[in-house]
Amino acid sequence: MSSLSVSEQAAAVTAPPAIRVEDVSITYQTALQGRQTLIGTLSRMRRRKRIVKEIKAVRNVSLEIPRGSVLGIIGANGAGKSTLMRAMSGILPPTSGRIEVKGRVSTLLALGVGFDRKLTGRQNVVLGGLAAGLSREQMERKYQEIVDFAEIEEFMDMPMRTYSSGMYSRLAFSVAVNMEPDILLIDEALSTGDAHFKRKSFDKMAELCAAAHTIVLVSHAMRSMRQLCDELVWLDKGQIRAQGKPEKVIRRYTRHFAVDEDDEAAQEDV
Ligand SMILES: Nc1ncnc2c1ncn2[C@@H]1O[C@H](COP(=O)(O)OP(=O)(O)OP(=O)(O)O)[C@@H](O)[C@H]1O
Ligand SMILES: [Mg+2]
Repeated sequence: MSSLSVSEQAAAVTAPPAIRVEDVSITYQTALQGRQTLIGTLSRMRRRKRIVKEIKAVRNVSLEIPRGSVLGIIGANGAGKSTLMRAMSGILPPTSGRIEVKGRVSTLLALGVGFDRKLTGRQNVVLGGLAAGLSREQMERKYQEIVDFAEIEEFMDMPMRTYSSGMYSRLAFSVAVNMEPDILLIDEALSTGDAHFKRKSFDKMAELCAAAHTIVLVSHAMRSMRQLCDELVWLDKGQIRAQGKPEKVIRRYTRHFAVDEDDEAAQEDV
């Protein structure tokens, strides 16, 4: 959906990509509980043996995300989408491979990670802005935009532990999109909030996607993904299964799971 002029497109082709993912694999190591029989537990304790299970969440993924483009990542639960996003945001180092990111990144990975529930909405927003490198004056201007967008003015001086989950996600979304990042990473945030806020956040995303920001979106909402993204990647058990024009990738994906592409419920919940 990006609206680059022809000359901007030409520049984008020659410019280095905003994000380059090179042969990235990510493996989680998890200590297993094992079966809870007393004898088994005791004998393992005696042998001091720990059972470690490896989960290869992302396998040999390579991607280039051109500056100003919108990439969508789709895939079944557990396919590795959030893991890849965490790696692109710099939170999680890849087990092997390289990730290069050029620009200031704003992430909305798990909603509101970084918010401290003991603090008020106002305190969290201000701290978040300062941590993101905004000056006090910039933050004051931004603060009002963020609150206006989230429409929760009257709750801003209450501790966030008193927020409903919808209010919490409204504020998280509003902070992420109003920070004017070069690169925006958004995992599963298009379908939060009530119908009114869903519409509003979709419109805001459409505006950002059109405005030459580099954006990576993860969502199960196929209809939104088709409308917002320039390119889609289907991640399947950690590997890229298909990549290209949104319609094409969605068709392959929905066919694979034998869901009706026009089925509203399937589009939002696949
Ligand atoms: N912190 C973790 N420790 C161990 N394993 C993890 C961890 N986070 C994710 N995994 C595993 O990695 C795999 C990929 O998980 P991930 O959260 O990236 O999937 P996803 O595509 O985002 O799924 P969803 O659509 O449900 O959000 C899964 O098998 C999951 O169990
Ligand atoms: Mg996820």
